[in-house]
Amino acid sequence: MFWQFLKPHILHKYKKDQLGIIHRFVQENEYWRGHLQNTQKFILENLPKQGNLKIAVLGSGWLLDFPMNELQQEHELFLFDICHPPQIKNKYRRFSNIHFIDKDLTFGLVDFAHKNQNPDLVLSEADKKETSTEFSSFDATISLNLLNQLDILLIENCFSPPTLNSLDFTPLRKQIQDLHIRSLPKGRSILISDWTELNATINELHPIERSLIFTQLLNSYPYQEWLWVFDTHKTYHQKNITTFKVRALTF
Ligand SMILES: C[S@@+](CC[C@H](N)C(=O)[O-])C[C@H]1O[C@@H](n2cnc3c(N)ncnc32)[C@H](O)[C@@H]1O
Repeated sequence: MFWQFLKPHILHKYKKDQLGIIHRFVQENEYWRGHLQNTQKFILENLPKQGNLKIAVLGSGWLLDFPMNELQQEHELFLFDICHPPQIKNKYRRFSNIHFIDKDLTFGLVDFAHKNQNPDLVLSEADKKETSTEFSSFDATISLNLLNQLDILLIENCFSPPTLNSLDFTPLRKQIQDLHIRSLPKGRSILISDWTELNATINELHPIERSLIFTQLLNSYPYQEWLWVFDTHKTYHQKNITTFKVRALTF
């Protein structure tokens, strides 16, 4: 399995982040509901209307945002994540049409970044990667609230503080996101991702906006947009309520 090639302490950081998601989901349940429903509805409305599809779900995690009940009977599902929650694997272990694949969806950059500690080297490694056929055998590929997690978590989990605090990671973020978009088969892909972070401190009517998307490759596609009230307990950013603008598109 892929994760055996990742250093255990790096994998542990990804597992910890995944646990953080389920804890926050429990805490913020009523605020997350709209976002999770919107995501599921968008997927159901935009998948081809035929049975027995081979579907790749990228960043499947806890499947909170995936319409499992509606899709698990009729289709063959390939769930990709850097690590899968054991509870989810256990829940679906008897289904022969549900497959769990442990895969770093930066295509090896997590391990490379951790070993090299140099964003420029990671950039040139990413330049060499050809990802356009990664999911070409699937009828549909769904990037499920994953796009900016790829760069955010790689940078947070793999680089140590001196590098982490002193360098501009924007070019690397863009390159990681470009690589992901290029891996999604054109005409058969759905992508949902938080796009902009809104931080409300004192002035909740005029929050500070920060873009989380650096790739330009999706700029020309029409999209649906909604708000996801992510953290009302002010623990993601201390003293701030955090909300995301989420975009969903097909291409
Ligand atoms: C914000 S969550 C998406 C929500 C998820 N669908 C759920 O319901 O839990 C992002 C997911 O992407 C996964 N992920 C982050 N970086 C990854 C990488 N480099 N390769 C594969 N999966 C990654 C995380 O483990 C997590 O499960």
